[in-house]
Amino acid sequence: MNNSSKIAISDAHSKIILAGEHAVVYGKPAIAIPFPLKVASIVEKSIGPIIFESAIYTGFLYNMPIKLKGISNCIKETLKYLNKPEKNLKIKIISSIPIGRGLGSSAAISISIVRSLFSFFERQITQNELFYLVQIAENYAHGNSSGLDIMATISENPIWFEKERGILSIKSKCPLYIVVADTGSTSDTRVAVENVRKRYNLKPKKVQKSLDTIEEITNEIKKAVLNGNINLLGKLLTNNHNELINIGVSDERLNNLVKLALDSNALGAKLIGGGLGGCMIALARDRGQAKEISNKLVKSDAEKSWYFSTNEDVVMEV
Ligand code: PMV
Repeated sequence: MNNSSKIAISDAHSKIILAGEHAVVYGKPAIAIPFPLKVASIVEKSIGPIIFESAIYTGFLYNMPIKLKGISNCIKETLKYLNKPEKNLKIKIISSIPIGRGLGSSAAISISIVRSLFSFFERQITQNELFYLVQIAENYAHGNSSGLDIMATISENPIWFEKERGILSIKSKCPLYIVVADTGSTSDTRVAVENVRKRYNLKPKKVQKSLDTIEEITNEIKKAVLNGNINLLGKLLTNNHNELINIGVSDERLNNLVKLALDSNALGAKLIGGGLGGCMIALARDRGQAKEISNKLVKSDAEKSWYFSTNEDVVMEV
């Protein structure tokens, strides 16, 4: 087949963990929702070694910096899987998802690349194939990842996720108005997960209690989402944040933004993802309040903020 004039473009969205991060690594449930910030990958024909083009690195695939090693492994494995040679391609990434902020940017980049490579070579892809190939990159980036990031980033709907059981789609009874704020500092998920493990080994009873409480909160959050009980949902999100403080994955800036959101009458707020930097979310009553909270967070300490409603595929940036 001659692909010389062909170009394949695929995208993927980011994700927000509504409840259960870290506990999910220990087999507890978690809830994640799509966040409409997106990344697109463009694959086209070139000559010679594979060229990778992105905001953080442009050059040959074989020279990819260590922090992009997971993605380069994922590209190599995908080509091997497709039975295609590792040459004569240019892969370009255009992303609006900040990197290392708990928004699943690495999973979204890998998903969009795998999808566009399959599309370039005119092959259909199943969810299982996508999961398997993206897991290669994610395991490299996160150590032993729970798989939540990938499933949340693949899915177009809110999901209930358990490591051993897989996912269930869940439907919110009403739209949720969510504010996301970025502390501007990078969250290293691998370090955060290792810290929780160390703390667990030192104080197993105390950490186990927090993980059990997070599980209870996650179960309650699921009910609140299904019933559209946003006042209760807000309180539970804040409770989840407090347990994340107890297991040592929050920091001063995240706590400040959470406090500021609550002082601005958000229904609830929490850090999201690995923590120790990265982003937090706040639940607002409506779009107007979401905008107001977003503005306040940016005027104080947030580097950037977004707000969106879960029933729309658009996001507003502040
Ligand atoms: O920081 P993120 O968005 O990659 O989320 C990681 C979620 C954890 O539960 C902390 C780790 C995992 O593998 O599930």
